Amino acid sequence: MTRPWSKSDWRTKPRIQMPDYTDAAALAAAEAQLQQYPPLVFAGEARSLKAKLADVSRGEAFLLQGGDCAESFGEFSADLIRDTFKVMLQMAVVLTYGAKMPVVKVGRMAGQFAKPRSAPTEVKDGQELPSYRGDIINDLDFTPESRIPNPQKMLQAYTQSAATLNLLRAFSKGGYADIHQVHAWTLGFADRDGSERYREMASRISDALDFMRAAGLSSEIDSKLSTVDFFTSHEALLLEYEEALCRLDTTSGKWLAGSGHMIWIGDRTRQPDGAHVNFCAGVQNPIGLKCGPSISDDDLKVLIDKLNPENEAGRLTLIARFGAGKVGDHLPRLVRVVQEMGANVVWSCDPMHGNTIKSASGYKTRPFESVLREVQEFFAVHAAEGSHPGGVHFEMTGKDVTECTGGVRAVTDEDLSSRYHTACDPRLNASQALELAFLVSEEIESYRATDAAKTATGS
Ligand code: PEP
Ligand code: CO
Repeated sequence: MTRPWSKSDWRTKPRIQMPDYTDAAALAAAEAQLQQYPPLVFAGEARSLKAKLADVSRGEAFLLQGGDCAESFGEFSADLIRDTFKVMLQMAVVLTYGAKMPVVKVGRMAGQFAKPRSAPTEVKDGQELPSYRGDIINDLDFTPESRIPNPQKMLQAYTQSAATLNLLRAFSKGGYADIHQVHAWTLGFADRDGSERYREMASRISDALDFMRAAGLSSEIDSKLSTVDFFTSHEALLLEYEEALCRLDTTSGKWLAGSGHMIWIGDRTRQPDGAHVNFCAGVQNPIGLKCGPSISDDDLKVLIDKLNPENEAGRLTLIARFGAGKVGDHLPRLVRVVQEMGANVVWSCDPMHGNTIKSASGYKTRPFESVLREVQEFFAVHAAEGSHPGGVHFEMTGKDVTECTGGVRAVTDEDLSSRYHTACDPRLNASQALELAFLVSEEIESYRATDAAKTATGS
Protein backbone atom coordinates (compact mmCIF):
# COMPACT_ATOMS: atom_id res chain seq x y z
CA MET A 1 0.00 0.00 0.00
CA THR A 2 1.30 3.46 -0.79
CA ARG A 3 1.84 5.92 2.00
CA PRO A 4 -0.47 8.95 1.88
CA TRP A 5 0.90 12.20 0.45
CA SER A 6 2.51 14.57 2.92
CA LYS A 7 3.13 18.28 2.44
CA SER A 8 6.89 17.81 2.81
CA ASP A 9 7.24 14.93 0.29
CA TRP A 10 8.44 17.41 -2.36
CA ARG A 11 11.70 17.63 -0.40
CA THR A 12 12.65 14.15 -1.58
CA LYS A 13 12.10 15.05 -5.27
CA PRO A 14 14.34 16.82 -7.75
CA ARG A 15 13.80 20.56 -7.49
CA ILE A 16 14.77 23.34 -9.85
CA GLN A 17 14.32 27.12 -9.93
CA MET A 18 14.39 27.31 -6.12
CA PRO A 19 16.95 29.20 -4.04
CA ASP A 20 19.70 27.52 -2.05
CA TYR A 21 19.30 29.24 1.28
CA THR A 22 22.67 29.56 2.96
CA ASP A 23 21.50 30.15 6.55
CA ALA A 24 19.65 26.98 7.61
CA ALA A 25 18.75 28.35 11.04
CA ALA A 26 17.23 31.52 9.58
CA LEU A 27 15.26 29.43 7.08
CA ALA A 28 13.91 27.14 9.81
CA ALA A 29 12.91 30.16 11.92
CA ALA A 30 11.03 31.79 9.03
CA GLU A 31 9.25 28.53 8.19
CA ALA A 32 8.27 28.01 11.84
CA GLN A 33 6.89 31.54 11.99
CA LEU A 34 4.85 31.10 8.79
CA GLN A 35 3.42 27.86 10.09
CA GLN A 36 2.01 29.80 13.04
CA TYR A 37 0.31 32.35 10.81
CA PRO A 38 -3.27 31.85 9.64
CA PRO A 39 -3.80 30.67 6.08
CA LEU A 40 -4.66 33.47 3.64
CA VAL A 41 -7.58 31.62 2.07
CA PHE A 42 -10.06 29.06 3.27
CA ALA A 43 -10.96 25.71 1.80
CA GLY A 44 -14.59 26.65 1.10
CA GLU A 45 -13.40 29.48 -1.13
CA ALA A 46 -11.08 27.20 -3.10
CA ARG A 47 -13.95 24.76 -3.54
CA SER A 48 -16.23 27.53 -4.73
CA LEU A 49 -13.63 28.57 -7.32
CA LYS A 50 -13.34 24.93 -8.38
CA ALA A 51 -17.11 24.76 -8.93
CA LYS A 52 -16.96 27.91 -11.08
CA LEU A 53 -14.06 26.50 -13.08
CA ALA A 54 -16.10 23.33 -13.59
CA ASP A 55 -18.65 25.57 -15.35
CA VAL A 56 -15.81 26.96 -17.47
CA SER A 57 -14.70 23.44 -18.41
CA ARG A 58 -18.22 22.78 -19.75
CA GLY A 59 -18.25 25.99 -21.77
CA GLU A 60 -20.77 27.65 -19.45
CA ALA A 61 -18.49 30.39 -18.07
CA PHE A 62 -15.26 32.16 -19.04
CA LEU A 63 -12.07 32.54 -16.99
CA LEU A 64 -10.28 35.89 -16.74
CA GLN A 65 -6.94 35.59 -14.94
CA GLY A 66 -4.60 38.56 -14.76
CA GLY A 67 -2.21 40.74 -12.84
CA ASP A 68 1.46 41.51 -12.43
CA CYS A 69 4.23 39.29 -13.71
CA ALA A 70 5.75 39.74 -10.26
CA GLU A 71 4.35 41.67 -7.33
CA SER A 72 7.00 43.73 -5.60
CA PHE A 73 7.63 45.16 -2.15
CA GLY A 74 8.53 48.57 -3.62
CA GLU A 75 5.44 48.95 -5.79
CA PHE A 76 2.82 48.22 -3.15
CA SER A 77 -0.04 50.63 -2.55
CA ALA A 78 -3.81 50.75 -2.25
CA ASP A 79 -4.01 52.69 -5.53
CA LEU A 80 -2.11 50.04 -7.47
CA ILE A 81 -4.29 47.24 -6.10
CA ARG A 82 -7.44 49.25 -6.80
CA ASP A 83 -6.42 50.11 -10.35
CA THR A 84 -5.61 46.53 -11.34
CA PHE A 85 -8.82 45.32 -9.68
CA LYS A 86 -10.79 48.05 -11.47
CA VAL A 87 -9.45 47.13 -14.91
CA MET A 88 -10.24 43.49 -14.25
CA LEU A 89 -13.81 44.47 -13.34
CA GLN A 90 -14.10 46.47 -16.56
CA MET A 91 -12.70 43.59 -18.61
CA ALA A 92 -15.06 41.17 -16.89
CA VAL A 93 -18.06 43.37 -17.69
CA VAL A 94 -16.97 43.61 -21.34
CA LEU A 95 -16.62 39.84 -21.52
CA THR A 96 -19.88 39.10 -19.70
CA TYR A 97 -21.75 41.53 -21.94
CA GLY A 98 -20.20 40.30 -25.18
CA ALA A 99 -20.00 36.60 -24.41
CA LYS A 100 -23.30 36.44 -22.47
CA MET A 101 -21.63 34.20 -19.93
CA PRO A 102 -20.51 34.57 -16.32
CA VAL A 103 -16.84 35.52 -15.99
CA VAL A 104 -14.70 33.92 -13.29
CA LYS A 105 -12.26 36.55 -12.03
CA VAL A 106 -8.86 35.44 -10.74
CA GLY A 107 -6.04 37.88 -9.96
CA ARG A 108 -2.35 37.14 -10.27
CA MET A 109 -2.27 38.92 -6.95
CA ALA A 110 -1.68 38.49 -3.21
CA GLY A 111 1.14 35.96 -3.57
CA GLN A 112 2.68 36.27 -7.06
CA PHE A 113 6.23 36.95 -5.88
CA ALA A 114 8.57 34.10 -6.87
CA LYS A 115 9.97 33.98 -10.40
CA PRO A 116 11.57 31.21 -12.46
CA ARG A 117 14.49 32.57 -14.51
CA SER A 118 15.98 31.54 -17.83
CA ALA A 119 19.53 31.68 -16.41
CA PRO A 120 20.83 31.14 -12.85
CA THR A 121 23.16 34.12 -13.08
CA GLU A 122 23.19 37.53 -14.70
CA VAL A 123 26.23 39.41 -16.04
CA LYS A 124 26.45 43.21 -16.07
CA ASP A 125 29.59 45.18 -16.91
CA GLY A 126 31.71 42.06 -16.52
CA GLN A 127 30.30 41.20 -13.08
CA GLU A 128 28.37 37.93 -12.65
CA LEU A 129 25.77 37.64 -9.89
CA PRO A 130 22.94 35.22 -9.07
CA SER A 131 19.71 36.13 -10.90
CA TYR A 132 16.93 38.07 -9.24
CA ARG A 133 14.19 35.57 -8.31
CA GLY A 134 11.41 37.82 -7.07
CA ASP A 135 11.01 39.88 -3.90
CA ILE A 136 10.04 36.84 -1.81
CA ILE A 137 13.57 35.47 -2.42
CA ASN A 138 16.15 38.21 -3.08
CA ASP A 139 16.50 41.83 -4.24
CA LEU A 140 16.61 43.34 -7.72
CA ASP A 141 19.60 45.63 -6.96
CA PHE A 142 22.71 44.43 -8.73
CA THR A 143 24.96 43.84 -5.71
CA PRO A 144 26.24 40.55 -4.24
CA GLU A 145 24.42 41.14 -0.89
CA SER A 146 21.08 41.89 -2.61
CA ARG A 147 21.15 38.67 -4.53
CA ILE A 148 21.62 36.42 -1.48
CA PRO A 149 18.34 34.57 -0.85
CA ASN A 150 16.87 35.78 2.44
CA PRO A 151 14.19 33.60 4.12
CA GLN A 152 12.86 36.59 6.12
CA LYS A 153 11.45 37.88 2.85
CA MET A 154 8.83 35.12 2.95
CA LEU A 155 7.33 36.81 6.02
CA GLN A 156 7.15 40.16 4.26
CA ALA A 157 5.53 38.52 1.22
CA TYR A 158 2.96 36.91 3.53
CA THR A 159 2.17 40.25 5.18
CA GLN A 160 1.85 42.04 1.84
CA SER A 161 -0.36 39.24 0.49
CA ALA A 162 -2.61 39.42 3.58
CA ALA A 163 -2.99 43.20 3.22
CA THR A 164 -3.64 42.91 -0.54
CA LEU A 165 -6.24 40.21 -0.05
CA ASN A 166 -7.90 42.22 2.69
CA LEU A 167 -8.34 45.17 0.34
CA LEU A 168 -9.50 42.94 -2.53
CA ARG A 169 -12.15 41.40 -0.26
CA ALA A 170 -13.27 44.90 0.79
CA PHE A 171 -13.50 46.08 -2.82
CA SER A 172 -15.35 42.92 -3.90
CA LYS A 173 -17.96 42.94 -1.19
CA GLY A 174 -18.04 46.52 0.11
CA GLY A 175 -19.76 48.37 -2.76
CA TYR A 176 -16.87 49.24 -5.09
CA ALA A 177 -17.66 46.36 -7.42
CA ASP A 178 -21.42 47.08 -7.53
CA ILE A 179 -22.54 46.95 -11.18
CA HIS A 180 -24.17 50.37 -10.68
CA GLN A 181 -20.59 51.70 -10.59
CA VAL A 182 -19.99 50.49 -14.15
CA HIS A 183 -19.61 54.11 -15.29
CA ALA A 184 -17.49 55.20 -12.34
CA TRP A 185 -14.82 52.53 -13.02
CA THR A 186 -13.99 54.34 -16.22
CA LEU A 187 -13.03 57.69 -14.61
CA GLY A 188 -9.41 58.39 -15.26
CA PHE A 189 -9.58 56.87 -18.72
CA ALA A 190 -9.65 59.32 -21.62
CA ASP A 191 -11.38 58.65 -24.95
CA ARG A 192 -8.02 58.42 -26.66
CA ASP A 193 -7.40 55.33 -24.46
CA GLY A 194 -10.19 53.62 -26.33
CA SER A 195 -12.64 53.98 -23.47
CA GLU A 196 -15.41 55.41 -25.65
CA ARG A 197 -16.48 51.91 -26.58
CA TYR A 198 -16.55 51.00 -22.89
CA ARG A 199 -18.65 54.05 -22.05
CA GLU A 200 -21.21 53.15 -24.71
CA MET A 201 -21.48 49.63 -23.35
CA ALA A 202 -21.76 50.94 -19.78
CA SER A 203 -24.67 53.15 -20.86
CA ARG A 204 -26.48 50.19 -22.34
CA ILE A 205 -25.94 48.26 -19.10
CA SER A 206 -27.24 51.20 -17.05
CA ASP A 207 -30.35 51.34 -19.25
CA ALA A 208 -30.93 47.63 -18.70
CA LEU A 209 -30.57 48.10 -14.93
CA ASP A 210 -33.06 51.00 -15.01
CA PHE A 211 -35.48 48.86 -16.95
CA MET A 212 -35.20 46.01 -14.46
CA ARG A 213 -35.70 48.38 -11.58
CA ALA A 214 -38.79 49.86 -13.25
CA ALA A 215 -40.08 46.34 -13.74
CA GLY A 216 -39.86 45.78 -9.98
CA LEU A 217 -36.73 43.62 -9.92
CA SER A 218 -34.64 45.92 -7.68
CA SER A 219 -34.10 43.42 -4.89
CA GLU A 220 -32.77 40.78 -7.32
CA ILE A 221 -30.38 43.30 -8.88
CA ASP A 222 -29.23 44.53 -5.51
CA SER A 223 -28.59 41.11 -4.07
CA LYS A 224 -26.91 39.58 -7.15
CA LEU A 225 -25.08 42.50 -8.73
CA SER A 226 -23.77 44.53 -5.84
CA THR A 227 -20.78 42.29 -5.07
CA VAL A 228 -18.39 40.08 -7.04
CA ASP A 229 -16.37 36.97 -6.26
CA PHE A 230 -12.71 37.69 -6.84
CA PHE A 231 -10.08 34.99 -6.37
CA THR A 232 -6.29 35.05 -6.02
CA SER A 233 -3.61 32.95 -7.71
CA HIS A 234 0.14 32.66 -8.12
CA GLU A 235 2.83 30.29 -9.33
CA ALA A 236 3.60 27.80 -6.55
CA LEU A 237 7.34 28.05 -7.07
CA LEU A 238 8.81 28.61 -3.62
CA LEU A 239 7.83 25.37 -1.94
CA GLU A 240 9.13 26.23 1.53
CA TYR A 241 6.56 29.05 1.57
CA GLU A 242 3.81 26.84 0.14
CA GLU A 243 4.46 24.02 2.59
CA ALA A 244 4.42 26.37 5.59
CA LEU A 245 0.97 27.68 4.56
CA CYS A 246 -0.42 24.25 3.63
CA ARG A 247 -3.16 23.22 6.06
CA LEU A 248 -5.50 20.30 6.67
CA ASP A 249 -9.10 21.25 5.93
CA THR A 250 -11.15 19.58 8.64
CA THR A 251 -14.40 19.71 6.63
CA SER A 252 -13.10 17.59 3.77
CA GLY A 253 -10.08 15.94 5.42
CA LYS A 254 -8.03 17.18 2.44
CA TRP A 255 -4.99 19.44 2.30
CA LEU A 256 -5.27 23.04 1.17
CA ALA A 257 -2.58 25.39 -0.14
CA GLY A 258 -3.47 28.31 2.15
CA SER A 259 -1.36 30.77 0.14
CA GLY A 260 -3.99 31.55 -2.54
CA HIS A 261 -7.18 30.18 -4.05
CA MET A 262 -5.56 28.80 -7.20
CA ILE A 263 -1.91 27.92 -7.68
CA TRP A 264 -0.15 27.01 -10.88
CA ILE A 265 2.89 25.08 -12.02
CA GLY A 266 5.22 27.01 -14.35
CA ASP A 267 6.39 25.83 -17.75
CA ARG A 268 9.93 25.32 -16.38
CA THR A 269 8.95 23.31 -13.29
CA ARG A 270 6.39 20.83 -14.62
CA GLN A 271 8.64 17.73 -14.56
CA PRO A 272 6.21 14.86 -13.79
CA ASP A 273 8.51 13.47 -11.07
CA GLY A 274 9.71 16.83 -9.80
CA ALA A 275 9.07 18.67 -6.54
CA HIS A 276 6.48 21.15 -7.86
CA VAL A 277 4.17 18.57 -9.39
CA ASN A 278 4.44 16.49 -6.21
CA PHE A 279 3.36 19.39 -4.01
CA CYS A 280 0.48 20.53 -6.21
CA ALA A 281 -0.83 16.98 -6.65
CA GLY A 282 -1.52 16.75 -2.92
CA VAL A 283 -3.59 19.89 -2.31
CA GLN A 284 -7.26 20.29 -3.14
CA ASN A 285 -7.06 23.80 -4.72
CA PRO A 286 -7.71 24.39 -8.40
CA ILE A 287 -4.36 23.89 -10.14
CA GLY A 288 -3.03 25.55 -13.28
CA LEU A 289 -0.44 23.92 -15.52
CA LYS A 290 1.50 26.04 -17.98
CA CYS A 291 1.92 24.22 -21.29
CA GLY A 292 4.66 25.56 -23.57
CA PRO A 293 6.01 24.18 -26.87
CA SER A 294 8.27 21.64 -25.15
CA ILE A 295 5.47 19.68 -23.45
CA SER A 296 5.14 16.23 -25.04
CA ASP A 297 1.87 14.36 -25.43
CA ASP A 298 3.13 11.74 -22.96
CA ASP A 299 4.11 14.38 -20.40
CA LEU A 300 0.64 15.86 -20.60
CA LYS A 301 -0.97 12.44 -20.11
CA VAL A 302 1.13 11.66 -17.05
CA LEU A 303 0.59 15.14 -15.61
CA ILE A 304 -3.19 14.93 -16.02
CA ASP A 305 -3.19 11.55 -14.25
CA LYS A 306 -1.03 12.85 -11.42
CA LEU A 307 -2.75 16.18 -10.95
CA ASN A 308 -6.34 15.12 -11.44
CA PRO A 309 -6.60 11.36 -10.83
CA GLU A 310 -10.33 11.59 -10.07
CA ASN A 311 -11.01 13.62 -13.20
CA GLU A 312 -12.74 16.29 -11.16
CA ALA A 313 -14.10 19.16 -13.29
CA GLY A 314 -12.60 22.54 -12.32
CA ARG A 315 -9.52 20.98 -10.72
CA LEU A 316 -7.11 21.41 -13.65
CA THR A 317 -6.62 24.41 -15.93
CA LEU A 318 -4.22 23.93 -18.83
CA ILE A 319 -2.68 27.29 -19.66
CA ALA A 320 -1.39 27.21 -23.24
CA ARG A 321 1.53 29.60 -23.96
CA PHE A 322 3.16 28.82 -27.27
CA GLY A 323 3.69 32.16 -29.00
CA ALA A 324 1.89 33.65 -32.00
CA GLY A 325 2.36 31.48 -35.07
CA LYS A 326 3.04 28.32 -33.01
CA VAL A 327 -0.36 27.55 -31.50
CA GLY A 328 -1.34 25.40 -34.50
CA ASP A 329 1.81 23.28 -34.04
CA HIS A 330 1.00 22.27 -30.46
CA LEU A 331 -2.50 22.97 -29.26
CA PRO A 332 -4.32 20.51 -31.59
CA ARG A 333 -2.16 17.57 -30.47
CA LEU A 334 -2.68 18.45 -26.78
CA VAL A 335 -6.44 18.93 -27.21
CA ARG A 336 -6.56 15.45 -28.77
CA VAL A 337 -4.68 13.95 -25.82
CA VAL A 338 -7.26 15.48 -23.49
CA GLN A 339 -10.14 14.26 -25.66
CA GLU A 340 -8.75 10.73 -25.89
CA MET A 341 -8.39 10.59 -22.12
CA GLY A 342 -11.87 12.01 -21.62
CA ALA A 343 -10.20 14.43 -19.20
CA ASN A 344 -12.11 17.36 -17.72
CA VAL A 345 -9.95 20.44 -18.08
CA VAL A 346 -10.25 24.18 -18.53
CA TRP A 347 -8.30 25.44 -21.55
CA SER A 348 -6.89 28.90 -21.00
CA CYS A 349 -4.63 31.01 -23.22
CA ASP A 350 -1.59 32.89 -21.91
CA PRO A 351 -0.58 34.98 -24.94
CA MET A 352 2.21 36.72 -23.00
CA HIS A 353 5.02 34.27 -22.26
CA GLY A 354 5.54 32.99 -25.80
CA ASN A 355 5.69 36.50 -27.24
CA THR A 356 8.48 38.24 -25.35
CA ILE A 357 11.06 39.93 -27.58
CA LYS A 358 13.89 42.39 -27.13
CA SER A 359 13.00 45.72 -28.72
CA ALA A 360 15.42 47.74 -30.82
CA SER A 361 15.73 50.10 -27.83
CA GLY A 362 16.90 47.17 -25.68
CA TYR A 363 13.76 46.68 -23.55
CA LYS A 364 12.06 43.34 -23.12
CA THR A 365 8.64 43.88 -24.69
CA ARG A 366 5.61 42.15 -26.19
CA PRO A 367 3.88 43.46 -29.30
CA PHE A 368 0.12 43.83 -28.81
CA GLU A 369 -0.39 42.36 -32.31
CA SER A 370 1.37 39.11 -31.31
CA VAL A 371 -0.63 38.87 -28.10
CA LEU A 372 -3.87 39.27 -30.04
CA ARG A 373 -2.75 36.87 -32.75
CA GLU A 374 -2.03 34.12 -30.23
CA VAL A 375 -5.50 34.58 -28.71
CA GLN A 376 -7.07 34.34 -32.18
CA GLU A 377 -5.12 31.18 -33.00
CA PHE A 378 -6.21 29.68 -29.68
CA PHE A 379 -9.90 30.27 -30.50
CA ALA A 380 -9.47 28.96 -34.05
CA VAL A 381 -7.94 25.68 -32.84
CA HIS A 382 -10.73 25.11 -30.33
CA ALA A 383 -13.35 25.83 -32.99
CA ALA A 384 -11.69 23.28 -35.28
CA GLU A 385 -11.21 20.62 -32.59
CA GLY A 386 -14.63 20.98 -30.96
CA SER A 387 -13.19 21.92 -27.55
CA HIS A 388 -13.96 24.96 -25.35
CA PRO A 389 -11.73 28.03 -25.34
CA GLY A 390 -12.23 28.54 -21.60
CA GLY A 391 -10.25 31.59 -20.64
CA VAL A 392 -7.36 33.99 -20.90
CA HIS A 393 -4.35 34.67 -18.69
CA PHE A 394 -2.71 38.11 -18.94
CA GLU A 395 0.19 39.97 -17.40
CA MET A 396 -1.34 43.40 -16.92
CA THR A 397 -1.61 46.36 -14.60
CA GLY A 398 -4.09 49.17 -13.99
CA LYS A 399 -1.23 51.63 -14.34
CA ASP A 400 -0.47 53.64 -17.45
CA VAL A 401 2.85 51.91 -18.15
CA THR A 402 4.65 51.60 -21.49
CA GLU A 403 5.94 48.02 -21.45
CA CYS A 404 4.14 46.29 -24.35
CA THR A 405 4.14 47.98 -27.76
CA GLY A 406 1.03 48.68 -29.86
CA GLY A 407 -2.63 48.97 -28.92
CA VAL A 408 -5.02 51.84 -29.70
CA ARG A 409 -2.60 54.36 -28.27
CA ALA A 410 0.19 52.82 -30.32
CA VAL A 411 3.03 52.54 -27.80
CA THR A 412 6.22 52.54 -29.90
CA ASP A 413 9.71 51.16 -29.28
CA GLU A 414 10.87 54.68 -28.43
CA ASP A 415 8.04 55.09 -25.87
CA LEU A 416 9.12 52.06 -23.85
CA SER A 417 11.65 54.01 -21.79
CA SER A 418 9.07 56.56 -20.62
CA ARG A 419 7.13 54.42 -18.10
CA TYR A 420 8.78 51.00 -17.98
CA HIS A 421 8.25 49.90 -14.37
CA THR A 422 8.04 46.11 -14.31
CA ALA A 423 10.50 44.18 -12.16
CA CYS A 424 10.13 41.24 -14.50
CA ASP A 425 8.08 40.74 -17.69
CA PRO A 426 6.34 43.55 -19.67
CA ARG A 427 2.67 44.01 -18.78
CA LEU A 428 -0.31 45.28 -20.78
CA ASN A 429 -1.35 48.70 -19.52
CA ALA A 430 -4.96 49.48 -18.58
CA SER A 431 -5.90 50.70 -22.03
CA GLN A 432 -4.30 47.73 -23.82
CA ALA A 433 -5.94 45.30 -21.37
CA LEU A 434 -9.39 46.79 -21.94
CA GLU A 435 -8.93 46.81 -25.71
CA LEU A 436 -7.95 43.17 -25.56
CA ALA A 437 -11.06 42.35 -23.54
CA PHE A 438 -13.23 43.74 -26.38
CA LEU A 439 -11.27 41.74 -28.94
CA VAL A 440 -11.52 38.55 -26.85
CA SER A 441 -15.28 39.05 -26.48
CA GLU A 442 -15.53 39.27 -30.30
CA GLU A 443 -13.63 35.98 -30.51
CA ILE A 444 -16.04 34.35 -28.05
CA GLU A 445 -19.05 35.63 -29.97
CA SER A 446 -17.77 34.28 -33.27
CA TYR A 447 -16.77 30.95 -31.67
CA ARG A 448 -20.30 30.62 -30.32
CA ALA A 449 -21.85 31.50 -33.66
CA THR A 450 -19.75 28.79 -35.37
CA ASP A 451 -20.62 26.32 -32.64
CA ALA A 452 -24.33 27.06 -32.96
CA ALA A 453 -24.15 26.70 -36.75
CA LYS A 454 -22.41 23.33 -36.35
CA THR A 455 -25.07 22.14 -33.93
CA ALA A 456 -27.81 23.27 -36.30
CA THR A 457 -26.35 21.39 -39.24
CA GLY A 458 -25.43 18.42 -37.04
CA SER A 459 -21.77 18.52 -38.12
C1 PEP B 1 4.65 33.49 -15.49
O1 PEP B 1 3.45 33.21 -15.63
O2 PEP B 1 5.05 34.54 -14.97
C2 PEP B 1 5.66 32.55 -16.04
C3 PEP B 1 6.91 32.56 -15.66
O3 PEP B 1 5.14 31.76 -16.99
P1 PEP B 1 5.70 30.42 -17.69
O4 PEP B 1 5.93 29.44 -16.58
O5 PEP B 1 4.56 30.05 -18.57
O6 PEP B 1 6.94 30.80 -18.42
CO1 CO C 1 5.89 36.59 -16.50
